[in-house]
Formats: sequence, structure tokens, C-alpha cells
Amino acid sequence: MIKTVEWTKDGVRMLDQRLLPSEEKYLMLRSYDEVAEAIRKMVIRGAPAIGVSAAMGIALGASQSVGTSVADLDDDLQYICDVMGKTRPTAVNLFWAIERMRGAFQRNKHLNDVEEVKKALVSEALAIFEEDITANRAIGHHGEPLLPDGATVLTHCNAGALATAGDYGTALGVIRGARDAGKKIAVIADETRPYLQGLRLTAWELAKDDIPVTVITDNMAGHVMKSGKVDAVVVGADRIAANGDTANKIGTYMVAVLAREHGVPFYVAAPLTTLDLSLASGEEIPIEERDSMEVTHIRDHQLAPDGINVHNPAFDVTPHQFITAIITDKGVARPPYLKSLKTLFE
Ligand code: MRU
Repeated sequence: MIKTVEWTKDGVRMLDQRLLPSEEKYLMLRSYDEVAEAIRKMVIRGAPAIGVSAAMGIALGASQSVGTSVADLDDDLQYICDVMGKTRPTAVNLFWAIERMRGAFQRNKHLNDVEEVKKALVSEALAIFEEDITANRAIGHHGEPLLPDGATVLTHCNAGALATAGDYGTALGVIRGARDAGKKIAVIADETRPYLQGLRLTAWELAKDDIPVTVITDNMAGHVMKSGKVDAVVVGADRIAANGDTANKIGTYMVAVLAREHGVPFYVAAPLTTLDLSLASGEEIPIEERDSMEVTHIRDHQLAPDGINVHNPAFDVTPHQFITAIITDKGVARPPYLKSLKTLFE
């Protein structure tokens, strides 16, 4: 099993995804600000993995607090959560995890013992980690019946083990679920410019798992669908609004439009921790703008002319009308999403 992120007695251990697939190197992060920096710099990425890492970072920071009272710990926790909350704006799992950690503090502060409250925060982070793995298995279980035996599935970005606490992943969890149900599934992975999560990460983890994978550049998706080579699209999500509008990696919207045009079902796979029912529609989802160098360069090699204007939105929003179903850990939601997504929480 790929260990994306791990709690150890020395700190939070993470696989440095920036180096994959050329190097499999783990970093030991020994403070909350090192964890925050790792999220910001994309050592770790993917909505659920960001949430789990933030929870571990908060637990680490709290356990290193030198405050002598629960009130001191509360102040430190507040500060740490603020730092964590400023790392990446789009994936709601980050804010969900921060709220869970704050809730754990509130539930345990009456213990009036700093060390006991710290222990409770570490337990909460570990629970978040375990729950993510269980949720992904459930997504695989609920989603696999949607994929026929022999299907070829197109995916965008990386919504696999690397994007979660590990093991199954979300979109790749549906594919792994189908594989584990005895079906033969092949994957087409969009390379996913500019950060190349498809080319570097999805291709790497599927090949490691012996699931047949073919990489295409993003602009080939239309041609490939028109040739009848794609039976379904399955992607992950960073935030899903109450009406089903879904923010995911830039380029997802384009894939959804193509899927509609070619009559290919378009599925979103995500745990309930990615749902943000406080937002009425995708219009309200904040879209992260990242460094222009991700567009102008490939690693350290500059390809664009000096000083050129660049726009680099890291995510786009697929309107709910393009989504055939949303596969979650609590079951499969179908349109109208305003009703079906709410029901999942009952
Ligand atoms: O910028 P990233 O790599 O964090 O973006 C990741 C994605 O968009 C994933 O598809 C999404 O987080 C779902 S991961 C299970």
C-alpha cells in the first residue's frame, strides 16, 4: 500500500509527490509550519490527503505547544488552524479537517489537563486518517457496479491513493473496486497540464498496481472519445456545492463537455468530506491561482518567452448538468443533486 502520509513519533512523514515518478523519497516534517509548507508546495496534494495532512499538522503543532493551561493551548490551536487554513483555498476537505480538530478540542477542553487534550487531538487526527481509508473503500464498493466488465475509463488528474490517506483513492477507488470485483478495466489517464498529476502520479500508481493505463495529452481526449474508446469518465473532486456543481482539477470541465457530446457517462467520486452544502452553487467556490512558472516551465526548464502573461487557475467547476452521478462513501447520488446530496447526510 502506498503510504501517502503517516503519523510517527518523530513527526508527520510524507511521500514527496513533487519528485514522483523519478524518485520515491519521504520527508519527515517536524512542526506544524513544515506541514503547512508541504501542503502549499504540493509535497502532498489531492483534497482528502490535504485534509488528513492538515489534521496531523494541527495535532503535531498542538502537541508541541509549550502552553501550561488549556486556555494557552486554545490560543496556540487557533493560530495553527489559521496558518493551515491559508495553505490552499479550493479543497474543502482542508476546512472540514480544521473544523473537526477544533471540535475535538471543544469536546475535550473540560478535561482541564493540557496533556490529555493534546492526546485527544492526536487521536482525532488518526481517526480522520483511518476514516478516509474506509471512505475510499466504500466509494469503490458503491461505484464499481457502474463500470461494466471490459470497460475503458478515462480519468483526469490524480484521484488515487496518492490524493488520499492511501490504499484505494476516490476515482481510482472505483476502478480498484471494479478490478477487485473481478472485472477487467483499462484506464486512459489525461496527462493533466500544467502540473502533470495524470502523467506523473496516476500513471505511476496504476502501473504499480498492474492496472493497464495509457497516457494521453489533455487535447487528445476529444479525439479518443469520438473514436469510441472511452466507456466512462471517473474523476475526483475538490469541492461539491449543494446543487452538485463540482470543482476539480483544471480541465475537468472540458472533459465533461466532451463526455456529454459523445454520450459517455461522467462520474464524480468523492467522500462526504468533499461536499460543501453551505454553497448554493459552484459560482461560490474559490479557485486557486497558482504560480505562473507551472505553466511556463517544465520542472526547472523554461519553455515560454521571458515576461509573457500567464493565467494559471488550478481548478475549474463542472456544472451539475454534465454529471451523470456522484459516487460517495454513503452511496450514489443522482440528479436532482439538491435533494440527493442532502439525503446522504441523513
Ligand atoms: O492540485 P491538486 O493536485 O491538489 O488537485 C487534485 C485534484 O484536483 C483531485 O482530482 C481532487 O483533489 C480529488 S483527489 C481524491
